[in-house]
Amino acid sequence: MNGLPKLVTSVVELRKEVAAARARGQRVGLVPTMGALHEGHLSLVRTAKAECGFTVVSVFVNPTQFGPNEDFAKYPRTLDADRGLLAGCGADVVFAPASTEVYRAGHSTMVEPGEIAEPLEGQFRPRHFRGVATIVLKLFNMVQPDAAFFGQKDYQQSVVIRRMVADLNMPTTIHVCPTVREADGLAMSSRNRYLSPDARQQALVLSKSLQLAGRLVADGERDAAVIAAKMKDLIGTAPDAQIDYVALVDPETLQPVATIADRAMAILAVKIGSTRLIDNWLLEARL
Ligand code: PAF
Repeated sequence: MNGLPKLVTSVVELRKEVAAARARGQRVGLVPTMGALHEGHLSLVRTAKAECGFTVVSVFVNPTQFGPNEDFAKYPRTLDADRGLLAGCGADVVFAPASTEVYRAGHSTMVEPGEIAEPLEGQFRPRHFRGVATIVLKLFNMVQPDAAFFGQKDYQQSVVIRRMVADLNMPTTIHVCPTVREADGLAMSSRNRYLSPDARQQALVLSKSLQLAGRLVADGERDAAVIAAKMKDLIGTAPDAQIDYVALVDPETLQPVATIADRAMAILAVKIGSTRLIDNWLLEARL
């Protein structure tokens, strides 16, 4: 349980490991990551281990999900440290392929997610979910997992993946696990390491504005525009915050809601200086 997970870099070797696990009667779980692991990832791995027995963690910074002016080149690559962190969580295999192993010469097929990928992140990162859906489908084909585990922090990603799995009749069960937060509320993210101490402090406006939305709904406010305006005011108190979007949407369709009738997702993307962060919070109106 506490040993280092086996490092595998080729699809052939990965398939051997998975086949051996299946021959032992184990179910196979996959936690797809881009590395730079934190407690949020580790909690997914623990859940996968409890659920499936044999757990593969993929570590691959997927070039096709980054836009031309995004942080692909500087995205933290910390494989040795990641493997060490995984040792205590029961991961069996770390699959860390080179880019050329994943995208062979001549690769041209991409998954085109539909409307669900268009609002919110889709407005600011136009081809992002095309890259995400493509790599997730490829990883699923490489590992053929019984179940795969994603964090709720990337909420729209989880909806896009669920849609793809349903639309393409894929047999993998998708688990979306709760966002893991720092003690002060900041959602854990690999990109938090870009934040200076001052920016880290300012970044608390994301979770604070979501908590505010939760309190407003608990106190009876149902008007989405009122809630969003108060959230934006709070975010505006951080001098370096620049809002990409703050929205209250239907949790399934991601379409904006005018009134909180039952459940709505408060969801946002905010840049603190040059670091772009996302977060979300489920609002439940108890009548
Ligand atoms: O959430 C992430 O880290 C990535 O988008 C994923 C799912 C590993 C695909 O590259």
